[in-house]
Parts: sequence; structure tokens; C-alpha cells
Amino acid sequence: MAQTVSNHGRFPPHILLLLCALLFHSSLAIVDGNTGGTWLVADVQSLYQKPVCSPPKEINSKRLPITHRSSPCSPLSADSKPSHAQILKNDQVRVSSIQSRIRDGKRSFSVIVPAKPGLSLDIGNYVVKIGMGIPRKDFYVAVDTGSDLSWINCYPCLSCHGKPTTLYNPTRSRTHTDILCNSTDCMRIDQHSCSAYKRCNYKVIYGDMSQTNGYIVRDTLFLSGFDTLPNFIFGCGNNNTGLFGKVDGLIGLGRDNISLASQASSKYGAIFSYCLPSVTSTNDGYLLFGKSTLSNTKFTPMIKKPSSPSFYYLNLTTILVGSYPLDVSSTVFTRDPGIVIDSGTVITRLPPVAYDKLKTLFQQLMDYQNYKKSPPFEILDTCYNITGLDKVRLPTVSLVFSGGAVLDLDIPGILYTPDPTLTCLAFANTSGGAYDVGIIGNTQQQTFDVSYDIANQMIGFRQGGCS
Ligand SMILES: *[C@@H]1O[C@H](CO)[C@@H](O)[C@H](O)[C@H]1NC(C)=O
Ligand SMILES: *[C@@H]1O[C@H](CO)[C@@H](O)[C@H](O)[C@H]1NC(C)=O
Ligand SMILES: *[C@@H]1O[C@H](CO)[C@@H](O)[C@H](O)[C@H]1NC(C)=O
Ligand SMILES: *[C@@H]1O[C@H](CO)[C@@H](O)[C@H](O)[C@H]1NC(C)=O
Ligand SMILES: *[C@@H]1O[C@H](CO)[C@@H](O)[C@H](O)[C@H]1NC(C)=O
Ligand SMILES: *[C@@H]1O[C@H](CO)[C@@H](O)[C@H](O)[C@H]1NC(C)=O
Repeated sequence: MAQTVSNHGRFPPHILLLLCALLFHSSLAIVDGNTGGTWLVADVQSLYQKPVCSPPKEINSKRLPITHRSSPCSPLSADSKPSHAQILKNDQVRVSSIQSRIRDGKRSFSVIVPAKPGLSLDIGNYVVKIGMGIPRKDFYVAVDTGSDLSWINCYPCLSCHGKPTTLYNPTRSRTHTDILCNSTDCMRIDQHSCSAYKRCNYKVIYGDMSQTNGYIVRDTLFLSGFDTLPNFIFGCGNNNTGLFGKVDGLIGLGRDNISLASQASSKYGAIFSYCLPSVTSTNDGYLLFGKSTLSNTKFTPMIKKPSSPSFYYLNLTTILVGSYPLDVSSTVFTRDPGIVIDSGTVITRLPPVAYDKLKTLFQQLMDYQNYKKSPPFEILDTCYNITGLDKVRLPTVSLVFSGGAVLDLDIPGILYTPDPTLTCLAFANTSGGAYDVGIIGNTQQQTFDVSYDIANQMIGFRQGGCS
């Protein structure tokens, strides 16, 4: 929760800060009479992750709880929780993969991403538990708005993460049906082929070290509680290479019609929403299919580009730092190749000219505080040494979209804090230059309710989503 507080001169800023800190125990923006602009004050201790999980509170049963893979509440084993340096390295691989997919106008992830030892392509840092088949078996899968086909590690498996007992075995489910390769369902899959048994084989290549292949089946999908989606079409993945964050599979929430978002629309309507919890929070977030009951959501048009139909584009018009707009034309963001929103990318990527202005303005405002600068940390080049500090004062950052939707970022959306001594501005440039798509990443989406109203072609944001 970030409260914007305007100071009408009744209280000096520090008193106002104290009052609000008592009231909200959370971040708040303060208007400063000396420097102008609006500021947030972060408790240094609240910036980095705590090693303990307090059990999440029971939330609305229609919502699937979403957990960050690296959070203390993650159901995944410790060895599948990469370091911050590794997360940011993998993030660059994902971004390069998305950018080259869009540049080449490819529908599927059939691109070659430069392989470097120790790198893997992350298909998402957020996981949900789903059930499959009758009798039901549960799986932890990554949530990915950047791809369409869902898949699960499947028995028998040539290459899978997990033990044979944790795989999905279609022959053990009463409700499973094979899809034949001459069927129209098979034709809907991008890279399909015919197996010796006339099964519909699929293949998705996410990068040259990560791919899944197997065959397409239908079975009953359990979302939250006993909510089921019968005859769900997905991939039974028998040969899945690359790390995939050691999850059991993936659910694709992209825009193409094989995605779960599309398949669920006959039952729930063409609308879904999620709230991604911050890594520093012990609360779960959620994934919800169907109309949300939240009010006060602000929407921006969902823009479609025929050359890359899986992605959700939006028109960013400006960015405010400490309430000052960046000195760039809005066409920097809206002209081709544009900006997409992606649940799997960690750090927001902006066109270089916009990123340069953002970082310069942010640095200028931070300079008022005399914080000690620190060398770049992986892709993050605006870093500060916070050793010995109790609090950090930082300018507010807001992303403004056409139609009136605004992301007034909370502190974890502005600062990425790998350890208690180091904090960095959580943005980067598109690196490849002006021809690469920009991306609104999950660090900036954290704690907002983000709704994808596909029926009305709108994307909405609402503050305080996870609480
Ligand atoms: C597909 O092939 C099967 C068996 O080879 C056949 O029974 C079925 O009629 C075919 N379906 C279509 C739509 O051609
Ligand atoms: C399994 O995937 C690898 C690529 O990662 C491929 O070389 C191999 O041929 C695949 N095996 C089968 C049986 O499909
Ligand atoms: C999916 O898209 C294909 C081609 O764009 C179209 O023929 C088909 O009707 C669509 N299916 C659904 C379920 O919307
Ligand atoms: C988004 O921006 C582009 C480029 O400026 C413009 O052509 C388009 O009309 C805008 N779309 C909406 C829905 O605002
Ligand atoms: C941060 O500053 C402290 C001293 O204040 C120093 O010991 C430490 O090495 C610095 N850390 C980095 C990453 O520069
Ligand atoms: C993007 O940012 C990096 C790190 O600051 C910098 O080295 C690079 O030159 C920038 N790229 C462009 C195209 O401006």
C-alpha cells in the first residue's frame, strides 16, 4: 500500500511521516517542500527477503494461491531457488528470447538464444498448484503470460525434473483422451506432427537449451478447490530439457486460443486477473479466472499486434519520478516495437532513451540523500551501498498508461535489493536498442491486481491487490 500524502503545511514532513507510519505501517509518499517531488521512505530491513514463512492466510476459494519460487513459502525445494545474480542472468535470457521472437514475428518460441554455460531460460518465477485428471493429482506449474500452450511433466519421461511418481500419467486418469493428429485440435498447435500411433506430437522451443516435446491430450483440469475445466487441452511432456525452474510444468496465459486463458473463457468469461506477491512478503498472491469483485480498477487498452498474437501490448505514455515526468515524447514508448506486459520477466525493460532519462532523474533525486553509489549488479546499473542505514528515502516512480491507468509503484517495484548492503533501481534498458520490444516485468507488477479483460480488450491495475 502506498499512500500519497499531500502536505498542506499543517505538519512538517517528518511529523507527517511519523503520523502516517503509525497509521499504515507501510510505504507512503511525502510531498517535500524543500526539494519538491514526492518521496517514499523504506525501512532497510523491509527491503530484503526474510528467511521464514508465516503461513498464508486463507483467501477466497475461487482464487489459486500464487507463490514466488524463491520465497520462503515456496513449495519448491531449496536447490530450485536461484541466487539473485542467477535470477537476473536468466531474466536476460528470457528477455532476449521474447525480443527475438517478436523481432522475427514468430508465433512460437522457436528462436535460438545464445547459449552460455550456467544460463537457463526462466519460464516464470511464480508458481501455482493445479490438479489434473481423475483421480486428481497435483502439480506445481509456472504461470506464463508470454506463451500459450500449457504442459506437464509426463510419464514415461526421457528427461524431466522430478521422480516418476510425481509425473502425470494419462493412462491413470479416467477422464483423459488422446488427440489424434488428423483432428482440428491438433491443427491448433503451432509445431505439431504425427506420431507412429497417430498421436498429435507437439514441440515448443523456448531457447536453445530449453524445450518441451511430447503429445497433446485432453483431461480434467482442477483450478482452485473443486472448480474444474473438463477436456482441457495441454501437452503431455515426455522430453523437457532446460531447467524450467524445476517446476512440474507451465500454464500458458498468452493471448492465442490454445492458452488456458482462452480455454477457460467458455466457462469463466474471457477475463482473468492475478496478484503477484512481492518476494519480501509472506502473503500469497492469487490467480483468478472470471470477473473479479474488486472495484476501483483503472484500465488501459489492451493492444494487439498481428505479428505477435500471443503478447499483451499496452500504451505506456509517461513515467513520473518524484512526480516529475520524464523529458521524453510518449511515442518513445508507443511506437513500434512497443511495450508488452509479461508475468515471467523480472525487471522492466525500457527503450534506451527513456531508461537513460529515468535513471538520470532518479540519480539526481537520490543525490539529495548523499547515498554511497555501488558498482552495477548484473543488469542493474543504478545501485547504492546501504550498509549501516536504517531507512532509505527514495523518489516515487509511477508508470502512466493511456486511458488513465497508473502503476504507482510500491518500494519493491522501484528498488531491487539483492542483500542487506545493496539496493538498485529495478529497471533496465532493452539493451538491443530501439528495435527491441520493451517489457513491463513482474517486479513492477507485484502487489497490484492486474486484470486481463480480453472480452473488452482492456488491462487493469488496482493497488493493494494481494492484501
Ligand atoms: C482420423 O483418423 C482416425 C483413425 O485413423 C479416423 O477414425 C478418423 O475418422 C479420422 N478423423 C478425421 C477428422 O479425419
Ligand atoms: C529429446 O529432446 C532433445 C532436445 O533437447 C532431442 O535432441 C531428442 O531427439 C529428443 N528425444 C526424443 C525421443 O524426442
Ligand atoms: C482458434 O484459432 C483458429 C485460427 O485462428 C480458429 O480457426 C479457431 O476457430 C479458434 N478456436 C477457438 C476455440 O477460438
Ligand atoms: C497506442 O499508441 C499508438 C502509437 O502512438 C497509436 O497509434 C494507438 O492509437 C494507441 N492506441 C490506443 C488504444 O491508445
Ligand atoms: C559498502 O560500504 C561498506 C562500508 O561502509 C564497505 O565495507 C562495503 O564493502 C561496501 N560494499 C560494497 C558492495 O561496495
Ligand atoms: C543499456 O544499458 C547498459 C547498462 O547501463 C549500457 O551499457 C548500454 O550501453 C545501454 N544500451 C543502450 C542501447 O543504450
